[in-house]
Amino acid sequence: MDVLTVPEHCPDYRGEPLRLGILASGKGSNFTAIVEAISAQTLPAVITGVIYNNPGAGVVQRAQAAGVKSHLINHRDYPDRESFDQDIVSTLKNWGTEWVVMAGWMRQATEVLLKPFGAQVLNIHPSLLPAFPGIKAVERALAAGVKITGCTVHRVVLAVDSGPIIAQAAVPVLPGDTVASLHARIQQQEHRLYPQAILWAAVGNS
Ligand code: GRF
Repeated sequence: MDVLTVPEHCPDYRGEPLRLGILASGKGSNFTAIVEAISAQTLPAVITGVIYNNPGAGVVQRAQAAGVKSHLINHRDYPDRESFDQDIVSTLKNWGTEWVVMAGWMRQATEVLLKPFGAQVLNIHPSLLPAFPGIKAVERALAAGVKITGCTVHRVVLAVDSGPIIAQAAVPVLPGDTVASLHARIQQQEHRLYPQAILWAAVGNS
């Protein structure tokens, strides 16, 4: 996974492979989508490593399968969010990370994390922001009766799910949808969107 070429469909990107550090709290299907895009050479990137905060998170097995190192930084071991973020920054910097990619990361970022990486901290959220920021976005969209929802990739700022939007994908709500069925279809779009949006962010095409 170390040697990559620039994909034909992105002639504007002439740089070195992007160095992505992934932050994940759970299952890690977006991590896998990014790994697959790198393997397919549609995303010119390398993953420097995965940081996870929940022991037993599914992303650990996925990282192992992909040959990517993973490292536990458990927020429960820290007195405050700043010291937690400081350890994350030190680890990411040690790995030579340039882009911080939150993929199902359930912790709110502080200045300590955002300042060193500037605009190069990305997140994916399962709604069409600015609608339904925060937790239980799919559940709340369904309860509100919206007919179209989706997912958003955005740059991370201090306020939750509020940074500049890079890309979105729309997903219709179907009759009989449950939170699980709707979230599954949103995730299909997330997996398509996130690798593409990372590249758009990198070439400034957002
Ligand atoms: C995704 O739906 C993402 O939008 C949200 O958390 C979920 C993570 O899924 N922030 P996964 O762990 O990548 O499978």
